[in-house]
Amino acid sequence: MYNSKIAGLGFYVPENVVTNDDLSKLMDTNDEWIQERTGIKERRHVVKGEDTTTSMGVKAAQKAIERAGIDKNDIDFIVFATLSPDYYFPGPGVLVQRDLGLKTVGALDIRNQCSGFVYGISVADQYIKSGMYKNVLVIGSELHSHGLDMTTRGRGVSVIFGDGAGAAVMTREEDPKKGVLSTHLHSEGEHAEELSLIAPGMGKRWVTDIIGDADPEDTSYFPYMNGQFVFKNAVVRFSEVIMEGLHTNNLTPTDIDILIPHQANLRISQFIQKKFGLSDDQVFNNIMKYGNTTAASIPIALTEAWEAGKVKEGDLVVLAAFGSGFTWGSAIIRW
Ligand code: UT7
Repeated sequence: MYNSKIAGLGFYVPENVVTNDDLSKLMDTNDEWIQERTGIKERRHVVKGEDTTTSMGVKAAQKAIERAGIDKNDIDFIVFATLSPDYYFPGPGVLVQRDLGLKTVGALDIRNQCSGFVYGISVADQYIKSGMYKNVLVIGSELHSHGLDMTTRGRGVSVIFGDGAGAAVMTREEDPKKGVLSTHLHSEGEHAEELSLIAPGMGKRWVTDIIGDADPEDTSYFPYMNGQFVFKNAVVRFSEVIMEGLHTNNLTPTDIDILIPHQANLRISQFIQKKFGLSDDQVFNNIMKYGNTTAASIPIALTEAWEAGKVKEGDLVVLAAFGSGFTWGSAIIRW
């Protein structure tokens, strides 16, 4: 039995910067409200036609593969997490296999929204631990901007989300004390509709219903979020799942060298930081620059932290996420 480790990281964000002031020209919002409630100053939006969820994922993956120092033909499996796929089906995993020109390796799509990357790490970890695969490419990518309600009606959601992608190449770690020590995954479907996009869906509103009705009041194909309810659940679940991971490994919050929380809201990260008594150096945030990029937020943040020299050999790195589903999870990694 092996451990798994992250051997290479990469991220890609579109060039187009959208500031809070830019959004205030489209809807009734303002820089002060957005910064005070979320910490976000700007985010990236894909200019239509220039990128897709898959193309951003591919660019992040190319960087991760290069940094892992492996040949792309050594990738044994693809895991792709997103809530904003290019197509309703097939999912983006197979598009990555095609666009990267990989062998006919397996490709798995993960539908766990903000927790998607942590779920992806967990899946890859199990395959590597069992010996089935040696190198697994895990991607989180989102193109939110084309699907948001950019009017005052949608402001509670649309100011938060941004576009981008991050990727990790996971590989075998021979040292049992290093790499991914454990992962912890949870779900609570009771709250599925509290943060959701319910159409198009086979169950209630299919795409032909939406077109047929052509109802300007129909918001079923825009994301919905019960912000305060999600916030309250997020702070509880983040705390629980971080502690669960630490306990499993006989560790305490003081052992954390760097916590990379899903970038949902700066206030959530600050709450967790305070609760665990962590210093600014122990928690990495970049939501100010990119907004909430859902499945991409952890790999983008982890890559930036690594590039800045904040993730070093021997460090205890904790990844934690919470989001739509509700789903949440953590990964405890000895770098
Ligand atoms: O990543 C997945 C997990 N997601 C999260 O964890 C997000 C969790 N939730 C949040 O981050 C926060 O709830 C939000 C940032 C989404 C909202 O902040 P809030 O402090 O909970 O605000 P609120 O929804 O209670 O709205 C307060 C007021 C309302 O006006 P009234 O009813 O008090 O007059 C909203 O209509 O702010 C208004 N509002 C806005 N005003 C200016 C909502 N959105 C905006 C906006 N600009 N963009």
